Amino acid sequence: MSEIDLTGKVALISGGARGIGAETARCFAGHGAAVVIGDVLDEAGRGTAEAIRHAGGKADFIHHDVTNESEWEAAVDHAIRTFGGLEILVNNAGVEEAEHLVDLDIARARRLIDVNVNGVLLGHKHAARAMRPGGPAGRGGSIINLSSVAGLIGTPGLGAYTASKGAVRLLSKTAAVEFGFLGYGVRVNSIHPGYVETDMGRKLIDQFVGFGMLPNKLTAHADMARAYPVGRTGVPLDIARAALFLASDLSSFVTGAEIVVDGGMTVA
Ligand SMILES: NC(=O)c1ccc[n+]([C@@H]2O[C@H](COP(=O)([O-])OP(=O)(O)OC[C@H]3O[C@@H](n4cnc5c(N)ncnc54)[C@H](O)[C@@H]3O)[C@@H](O)[C@H]2O)c1
Repeated sequence: MSEIDLTGKVALISGGARGIGAETARCFAGHGAAVVIGDVLDEAGRGTAEAIRHAGGKADFIHHDVTNESEWEAAVDHAIRTFGGLEILVNNAGVEEAEHLVDLDIARARRLIDVNVNGVLLGHKHAARAMRPGGPAGRGGSIINLSSVAGLIGTPGLGAYTASKGAVRLLSKTAAVEFGFLGYGVRVNSIHPGYVETDMGRKLIDQFVGFGMLPNKLTAHADMARAYPVGRTGVPLDIARAALFLASDLSSFVTGAEIVVDGGMTVA
């Protein structure tokens, strides 16, 4: 048996239809967890859950917009009714917009903050209510928040996005100490990926080319990789494996931490 075993644990993964969230769902299910995938992309989400079941894992999909509080209640309730508990929440759903601050479109920025910050706040509220002693799941747990290297350092063009990811970083620490203080048995940590090749990542590269930060589209990916000491940019599995550690009991003494998974980019 692999050393990391999530058998008996139930995970809810927001934005799990594709990208990092989908890879995390496959990774957790492959290590024994039952996973509930929430997303606004119904067809892709159902497909991801179906593929996990086909491979012998336990998975289900629920339509879940993280900006909608009643859909959070429904998603948490669905996990508990379907699989008998909730021990892991991955606040993965996120959106990205790039524009220079002098061109800021406040409606787009508000929408981004609603998904990337308010969606994560709501996740803490409803998951912790379920996980805490006396709650309907009641066995404590681990909340894993997808921040970014953009929550650690400045990046031209990413004002609203960096504001949102910086907020997630510090929210994680407050939730860690608050849930500890209240005796909930719920750990909270943030993950800070560097560039990861997903739909969001590819969109970002196009935007950086548009801003003149990368010389042209053809060489953009290779040019970006040169900023990474390990010699490559990230793939979703790099991030899923960090989440796997934080989800498992191997990290039982880790809370309020920020795990930087960026191939050394932010220290180069
Ligand atoms: N790709 C990268 O380079 C990178 C780097 C650092 C951090 N991240 C973060 O990792 C997380 C996953 O990113 P990804 O690269 O897989 O992006 P992605 O765009 O491929 O996937 C994001 C998922 O979130 C879902 N989503 C968006 N709005 C939602 C909402 N309101 N409710 C529920 N689901 C919603 C999307 O439908 C999609 O399935 C995000 O929080 C992102 O900010 C990504």
